[in-house]
Amino acid sequence: MIEVDGVTVAFEDVIAVSDVDLRIETGEFVTIVGPSGCGKTTLLRAIGGLEEPTAGDVRIDGESPAAAQSTGRLGFVFQSHTLLPWKSATENVTFLREMANKEPRREQARALLKTVGLGGFEDTRPSELSGGMNQRVSIARAIHLGADVLLMDEPFGELDEITRDELGVSLREIWRRERKTVVFVTHSVPEAVFLADRCLVMRGEPGQIERVFEIDLPAPRDETVLESRAFHEQVAAVRRTLHESYTVGRTG
Ligand SMILES: Nc1ncnc2c1ncn2[C@@H]1O[C@H](COP(=O)(O)OP(=O)(O)OP(=O)(O)O)[C@@H](O)[C@H]1O
Ligand SMILES: [Mg+2]
Repeated sequence: MIEVDGVTVAFEDVIAVSDVDLRIETGEFVTIVGPSGCGKTTLLRAIGGLEEPTAGDVRIDGESPAAAQSTGRLGFVFQSHTLLPWKSATENVTFLREMANKEPRREQARALLKTVGLGGFEDTRPSELSGGMNQRVSIARAIHLGADVLLMDEPFGELDEITRDELGVSLREIWRRERKTVVFVTHSVPEAVFLADRCLVMRGEPGQIERVFEIDLPAPRDETVLESRAFHEQVAAVRRTLHESYTVGRTG
């Protein structure tokens, strides 16, 4: 379980995250949406131990984020990939496992690349792949690391809509199969609803969780869900809250 207790992150002149309490169960898929600058990335970074809270505490199964990170239990996927340019896709996928002193599994890495739609590109370097393809390598890398908790910050931001949908379906599939805990930040409301068990809507200035939506959609989810009435209704509900909090944020 991820426990966020009274977490505040203040920078010089802004309170990016203000007194946030949050519980995320093991195996849960949580998405976070909110206007630009409302503190999504900061909250995610605080959960991952990349940002030290000014006040409050984060625990991952009772451990500090730093301890969880040192044992390879946390996997990060950011909007812009952080791949090593001189390594092939497969080598990039296995690299973090090696760094965490876990045995790299080449064949599993190659299979994962196929799962994210990169069959045939196993030996290709990042400079010869598109932004979206490199993003898929980063996702495969985080999964291959064997992290229990995946912290993802707009990982599909650079992708076209069809690829996003497809990758969303495979991410849900991998999440179900491997029982990961996922915290996923996105600007896309449909994506946030499609992926989530729970969708958090944040508002900014100061950054807080405005509302929590329990998402009620069939599992497993495939592309047909995207056309269902239940899906559209929940997207509309999240969008309404987002618009309301945005207006409140603008007018004080
Ligand atoms: N390292 C930093 N130093 C100073 N201010 C920061 C820093 N990081 C973030 N901020 C500020 O904290 C606030 C929240 O930023 P954050 O990046 O968490 O927002 P976000 O919700 O992820 O936005 P976006 O959707 O645009 O990615 C913003 O006002 C931002 O300017
Ligand atoms: Mg951000």
